[in-house]
Amino acid sequence: MNIILLGAPGAGKGTQATRISEKYHLPHISTGDIFRDNIKRGTQIGLLAKSYTDRGQLVPDEVTCKIVEGRLQEADCSNGYLLDGFPRNLFQAQELDQFSKVDAVINIDIDLSLLMDRLCGRRVCKNCGESYHVNFLNGKTICEKCGGELYQRKDDNEETVGNRLKVYNEQTAPLIRFYTEKGVLRNVDGVGAIEEVFERICKALDR
Ligand code: AP5
Ligand code: MG
Repeated sequence: MNIILLGAPGAGKGTQATRISEKYHLPHISTGDIFRDNIKRGTQIGLLAKSYTDRGQLVPDEVTCKIVEGRLQEADCSNGYLLDGFPRNLFQAQELDQFSKVDAVINIDIDLSLLMDRLCGRRVCKNCGESYHVNFLNGKTICEKCGGELYQRKDDNEETVGNRLKVYNEQTAPLIRFYTEKGVLRNVDGVGAIEEVFERICKALDR
């Protein structure tokens, strides 16, 4: 099954993607993770992406679409994939239609007013990518799953989160209508415990 995870910054796409990918044996493809990995390695793509991700703006479509098109051709995607953070505007969605067929779009629905706190309090494992919130870490600085060091993403500050939410409203939210009209959108309430939201997603996928 070819699945897209749609949702505002902080809606829980990455958190849920880890679980969906494990249960349904699908490769988790996050364009945000791909850019962060390139930035860390100092590649040409990374140098370009950094100037956009640091400001909370979208990396140019041409670059992003080419990366995803190439990634979906890899062998592990032959039985399906889970896209997280792509497509993010109408142009990317139309491009995706040219090189792949989407079966289901899970929209993690959440009130945007909750997201500033979620994102500014997020800590991520450097090693396995698991996300935590400072409120539940009790001062711990290492990952519960793998013992890796936790860090704060550079774009998880008030100013950049503000920009990311604005970009989401203007460019990504219209995709809800786009995929509803195609008959593939499945809405899931994103408020509640992580495991509760996961159960809702599984129900929506198994439907
Ligand atoms: P990207 O990495 O995709 O960031 P994003 O969309 O802003 O989303 P996040 O990763 O911040 O949030 P999430 O929904 O994954 O939430 P998470 O599960 O971590 O993109 C970053 C940048 O890359 C973009 O700004 C752009 O510049 C560029 N980019 C990426 N894709 C692109 C594209 N297609 N085109 C152009 N540019 C692109 O959860 C957040 C927090 O909430 C965590 O602390 C977590 O523990 C907590 N949490 C999760 N679920 C719950 C719950 N149920 N209850 C309470 N807390 C919860
Ligand atoms: Mg994410």
